[in-house]
Amino acid sequence: MKVSCPNPLKLEEFEALSESLGKPLVTDRHVLNDKRTVQELSNNGLFSNDDVGWHHDWSYGRGNYFGTILQNVKNAHLSPTWFCDMSKAPQSLKDDYVGMIGSYYPPVDLLDKCFTDRQLKLLSKQKVTRPFIINHHVTNEEILYYSISTIQEVSPKLLWEDLEFNNIKEWIEENAIIHEWEDNDILIWDNLKMQHKRVAFEGERMLWRTQFII
Ligand SMILES: [Fe+2]
Repeated sequence: MKVSCPNPLKLEEFEALSESLGKPLVTDRHVLNDKRTVQELSNNGLFSNDDVGWHHDWSYGRGNYFGTILQNVKNAHLSPTWFCDMSKAPQSLKDDYVGMIGSYYPPVDLLDKCFTDRQLKLLSKQKVTRPFIINHHVTNEEILYYSISTIQEVSPKLLWEDLEFNNIKEWIEENAIIHEWEDNDILIWDNLKMQHKRVAFEGERMLWRTQFII
């Protein structure tokens, strides 16, 4: 969902809006508020200006962070955000992955930028796994969950060697929706359904983000 504001929200307004949506994730790096729930994404901070490949937020963390809210603070238009609604994957594609489970961990290039040593130790211990086929807890929609940039292993292991997942990757690229950012845009999305990515860019770009449980 896109919300267009006449003026950018102040930090306390953004915090209040995110709390009205659900229970926010508390984190440690790049946080802006005392509650540690609002993170700054920027070209010289979190995610820098590199490619950020297809993923679902918090795929590698325990708990289900079902929603994400993102505000354009400065020049978000320098790199559009790409989305793909994984609940819309055709049944034939979902059927290929019934019974499979993925295990998740943050991608190597984000380890230092996004997490403290304590968080990484915890994530490594938790070894979060998620089935490829999940049912949404609110809408009951069937979702093909395969966070491309954060998946580490798949079980059963034999199938991992047989499949390259190209049919999912091709379907995602063909069905992507590109959001071209405008001034003061706020996007709120269902993180279970919406896989997303962005491409590398040049220049100063800044957004605020909160992830939350509903
Ligand atoms: Fe994300």
